[in-house]
Amino acid sequence: MTMSNPGRGRILGIETSCDETAAAVVQRGTSVLSSVVSSQVDLHARYGGVVPEIASRAHVDVLVPVVAQAFVEAGLSEVSAGGESAIDAVAATYGPGLVGALLVGVSAAKTLALAWDVPFIAVNHLEAHLYAALLEDPDLEFPLVVLLVSGGHTMIVLMEGHGQYQVLGSTIDDAAGEAFDKVARYLGLGYPGGPAIDALSVHGDLEAIRFPRPMAGDGTYDFSFSGLKTAVVNHVRKHPEVTAADVAAGFQEAVVDVLVTKTQAAARSVGARGLCLGGGVAANSRLRERFLDVCLADGIRGFLPSRAMCTDNAAMVASTAWYRWQSDGPSPLDTGAHPNLGLS
Ligand code: KG4
Ligand code: ZN
Repeated sequence: MTMSNPGRGRILGIETSCDETAAAVVQRGTSVLSSVVSSQVDLHARYGGVVPEIASRAHVDVLVPVVAQAFVEAGLSEVSAGGESAIDAVAATYGPGLVGALLVGVSAAKTLALAWDVPFIAVNHLEAHLYAALLEDPDLEFPLVVLLVSGGHTMIVLMEGHGQYQVLGSTIDDAAGEAFDKVARYLGLGYPGGPAIDALSVHGDLEAIRFPRPMAGDGTYDFSFSGLKTAVVNHVRKHPEVTAADVAAGFQEAVVDVLVTKTQAAARSVGARGLCLGGGVAANSRLRERFLDVCLADGIRGFLPSRAMCTDNAAMVASTAWYRWQSDGPSPLDTGAHPNLGLS
């Protein structure tokens, strides 16, 4: 065990990889004492997507108050009357993500770790999304297959144990969330597009328009979503009378169909004992519904993290840090931001 003295195992997690500024205090990887998320969605909405420079500046503005709020909600003061730190380690997401945004969180975490004389732990954002499910349901058993679907990533990951991953498949072009955002923008539904399409689909007929299921029967666990946006644009040009609700429902059904079919095939092929969703798109109602149907049909234990745990947050970062601390020990203080960090 490479872990330095874990104390109470109380970790402050910081997340600033994209457009959410978040801080959380989690004890021993499973007990969430507080989780605060400040979203920048309103700042970016008028541009139809995240503007990196605006994101970095907003993180600088709100990170200190967000960390302070995480202490208040956890019922802790940063330093006790005896001068002892209330926190045993400070963790931050160091990649993947926007470089300027990541640097804000990493620099703050390293500074706090130095000031409080506690270890710093660098966390992979993708790994943190995988841990979101385990944080809410610690009884999940390995091998676990996780469908990780966010604005930046779409992958099927086999989790064989803590820190042991195999990426079974991923997108070869756009991420699923990116496809939702682009189609929503085309339909004039605003940003972020996923929740808007989800809400509008309820009023549409999911069988009215059958969009293609890209790479559905190709025997791989890889995805491609960029052609789907083109298919939507072409269909609307040819049939201007279609309702936005039918387009939204048909598009959502196509995306969900491919995601669910491939995840089911992957889970069967590795004999998964559990199946989980992660990432922002995991908040999608239709995906959640179809995902549970698969688990029921195949007799696999399925777990859907709460919507708050699916989207970017710092509780998943602090939880992941607990396991990383045990396996790898603290991270060096010269750790920088790694915008293109992968999962291995
Ligand atoms: O994980 P996340 O919060 O940020 C990263 O990309 O890391 O994911 C954000 C993505 C956006 O593309 C958003 O449109 C999508 O998740 N999303 C949804 C829903 N809620 C958020 N997509 C479909 N249905 C939803 N209900
Ligand atoms: Zn994310």
